[in-house]
Amino acid sequence: MVTSSTLDLSEFCVQLPKIELHAHINGSISPKTMHQLRELKKHKYPELADFVVPEQLDRISDFFPLFKFIYKLTDDEEAIAIATRNVIDEFAKDGVRYLELRTTPRRNEDTGMTKESYLKSVLDVINEPRKENIIVRLIVSIDRRNTLEEAFETVDLAVKFRTQNIVGIDLCGDVHQGSFEHLRPAFDKARTEGFYVTLHFNEVVENMVEAPNLLSFGPDRLGHATLLDEPTRQTIYSNRIPIEICMTSNVISKTVKTFEDHHVKDLLVENHPFVLCTDDKGVFFSDLSNEYAICSTTFKMTRDQLFETSLHSIDAIFGGSELKSQLKQQWQEWHQANAHAFN
Ligand code: IMP
Ligand code: ZN
Repeated sequence: MVTSSTLDLSEFCVQLPKIELHAHINGSISPKTMHQLRELKKHKYPELADFVVPEQLDRISDFFPLFKFIYKLTDDEEAIAIATRNVIDEFAKDGVRYLELRTTPRRNEDTGMTKESYLKSVLDVINEPRKENIIVRLIVSIDRRNTLEEAFETVDLAVKFRTQNIVGIDLCGDVHQGSFEHLRPAFDKARTEGFYVTLHFNEVVENMVEAPNLLSFGPDRLGHATLLDEPTRQTIYSNRIPIEICMTSNVISKTVKTFEDHHVKDLLVENHPFVLCTDDKGVFFSDLSNEYAICSTTFKMTRDQLFETSLHSIDAIFGGSELKSQLKQQWQEWHQANAHAFN
């Protein structure tokens, strides 16, 4: 329980129960875990000794090459299990009560890791019993660079392990590569199999031409949705498609100039559903509580508004009405027990 009415904003944002729906496992690995994994791997990859996570990424084009290093840290099942476990623990400590992680199954010929053993390792950790009050689900990502055959392979794996808390499929990866249309048959299959679908959407100008294709699929949520022309905006608003908002990620990767310019301001004005998320808390050094604090400070949101933002995020989860009701009850109980923290 929050005990002080003079609780500062950052502490309030940690205590506030939160929903995280857009977090890539390999981008969420904290510097502490990176250090731990580098110690494990540095004999195998001497070049890791020089690997320093940059404090500022110059452009979004600097971002994707970074993963070449991170993928050396998580090149086998044991390492991806350590990374996943630590990421979950860190979100739990930051007050996240419901977490949808996402990851792209990856093989490594040297270590013998297959896409299936990768996915199994992640799911084993997600389904471990834990004492922290956090529910964890998995979204399986399809990378824009994948061939259609690879995309089908990913959906087939999701089907195979569907009973182990896989809830959705995502389109992610380098925004300058590939196309949704090429991979669409795999997403059609995912939908037929009953998975929810979220798509990274209009992060850079070059993505805008494919926006009508992505929207015609009828995604359940959109990631970022940074650049919207009028017809696109209308479609998203009229269909009330929830948007996963990652303020620090967008500003550091320079797809949005400043926090003040962030497109979440339009969603606040329109009362359009959005969910504050981190994207890659490891490489952007920002926890979810920090994203709430940034949004609050930038747009002068009250603590009541922050609570409502978190509460409404429950409607966007990839889960059924029973789970949503349970979470809403938990949120209301927290609100009642901590009424003085809103003063
Ligand atoms: P992983 O899927 O767990 O390996 O997480 C890292 C991957 O997530 C990266 O290689 C990217 O493909 C993807 N990713 C992380 N952030 C973004 C983003 O903002 N846009 C598109 N893809 C992203
Ligand atoms: Zn993302």
